[in-house]
Formats: sequence, structure tokens, C-alpha cells
Amino acid sequence: MSAAPVETAVRVNGVVKSYGRGETRTLALKGASLEARFGELLMIVGPSGCGKTTLLSVICGTLDVDEGAIEVFGHDLAGMSTGAITKFRGENVGFIFQQFNLIPTLTAVENASVPLLLRGEPTRRAEARAAAVLGHMGLGGRERSYPRELSGGQQQRVAISRALVHEPRLIICDEPTASLDAATGQRTMELLKESALRPDRCVIVVTHDSRIFHFADRIAEMEDGRVVGVHLPKDFHHV
Ligand SMILES: Nc1ncnc2c1ncn2[C@@H]1O[C@H](COP(=O)(O)OP(=O)(O)O)[C@@H](O)[C@H]1O
Ligand SMILES: [Mg+2]
Repeated sequence: MSAAPVETAVRVNGVVKSYGRGETRTLALKGASLEARFGELLMIVGPSGCGKTTLLSVICGTLDVDEGAIEVFGHDLAGMSTGAITKFRGENVGFIFQQFNLIPTLTAVENASVPLLLRGEPTRRAEARAAAVLGHMGLGGRERSYPRELSGGQQQRVAISRALVHEPRLIICDEPTASLDAATGQRTMELLKESALRPDRCVIVVTHDSRIFHFADRIAEMEDGRVVGVHLPKDFHHV
């Protein structure tokens, strides 16, 4: 697979995406365009239903689009097979969700090891690496705890560990603080920013939590299936 020279980490151009057909057809993206740079934390904000989660799914190649182009690290997703996209995602993308999405029957260290096990690393090595990341997240001593034994903030830190354990270049977060109280949300964003952001990486955070907007390097504002503006946090006066 050859890659074009990369200037921008993620480039979305004129993407149209609909769900369903006939009378129930919903146009979720109506020509959305966006660029995310290396070394930045880009937030995508906008009201519920405006297409934020759909846009994230498009960027990580889990949804096909009707029109438009998506390029991640110089790779044109449209030109890749499903298998190639799955492999690319496994190697290059880490995910963090509102509901943490931890596997309830696995311990913290087992949950955090999953991306390494998926790419075939031996269990012992995967868990040693996962334990180190959990330690950086302030979860040393909780490696053998199950999700139900952890607070929401701790569960999200396990989820961040899982997202980072395989050192992906793209970190995708969908409403990462929506299930957390204000103080835990702030702490979670601080940890995410200092642990995930690197010059050769890109972190994209979807949120409508205005309390975390100041963690962004840039804010892309979405409205009704489109990106209608890109702002610096200090200039973004939302209603
Ligand atoms: N799987 C789906 N099937 C049908 N409609 C969907 C599906 N997912 C999202 N939608 C619709 O697409 C629009 C955008 O949804 P979404 O991307 O989840 O928005 P947001 O994340 O900004 O709340 C909404 O109208 C939503 O109801
Ligand atoms: Mg959503």
C-alpha cells in the first residue's frame, strides 16, 4: 500500500452519509469537510443529532460514505478493502467512548491489553505493557480490579489506557466526559491531553460539554450534518 505525502493527519472532504432508505432515510452528513493536524487536539462540537458520531465513524472507516473523500495519514480509505481498513484501524486508532465500553468480565489490566492481544502479542508481554500504562494513569494497584469495582473516573482511565496501549497515531474520543462529574471530567481531559498528545499524533474529541472546550487546540463547530466553522477556543463563544 503506497501512501501520499502527509501534511495533515485526517482530511475529510465533502462527505455525504445517509442512513436507511425511502421515508425513513436520514441524511446525517450533508457535505462535511474537516482537517485535523498532527500534534493537535481537535474538538468537534455541536448539538445532539448534528452528525458528530457519524463523522467519527467515517474517519475511522467503520461506516461507508455515499459521497466524498476521507484520508487518514495519507491513506485514501475509499481505496482500501474492508480487511485493510480493519487492520489499519487496529494499528493506528485508539477509541474512548462515553460509556467506557470496558468488558465487565475482564480485569483492568486485561481490558487495557486488548489492542495488543488483537494484534497477536503474547499475553504476558501485553499485560506487562498494559500495567505500565495503567500505572501512568494513576491506577497502580488496581490492575486486578474489575470495572464494577472502579469509579466512573477510574473506568475511564482504564479506557484511556486501552486506547493508548498500542501507541496509535490517531485517538478518537466520543463524549469522553459525558458520564463524569465536572471535576473528574477535567482531570480526565488533563490526563488524556498529557498522555495522548504527541507531535506525530492527532487526538479528536467529540463533545457538547462546554466545560472542556478549553482543552482544545481548535474547535470544529458542526450544525446539521456540516462543519460550519473552525475556531480557537478563546474565540469560540457558543450559545
Ligand atoms: N444507525 C443509524 N440509523 C439511522 N439513523 C441514524 C443512525 N445513527 C445516527 N442516525 C441519525 O443520524 C443523525 C446524526 O446522528 P449522530 O451522528 O449520532 O449525531 P450526534 O453524534 O451529533 O448526536 C441523527 O439524526 C440520528 O438520528
Ligand atoms: Mg453522538
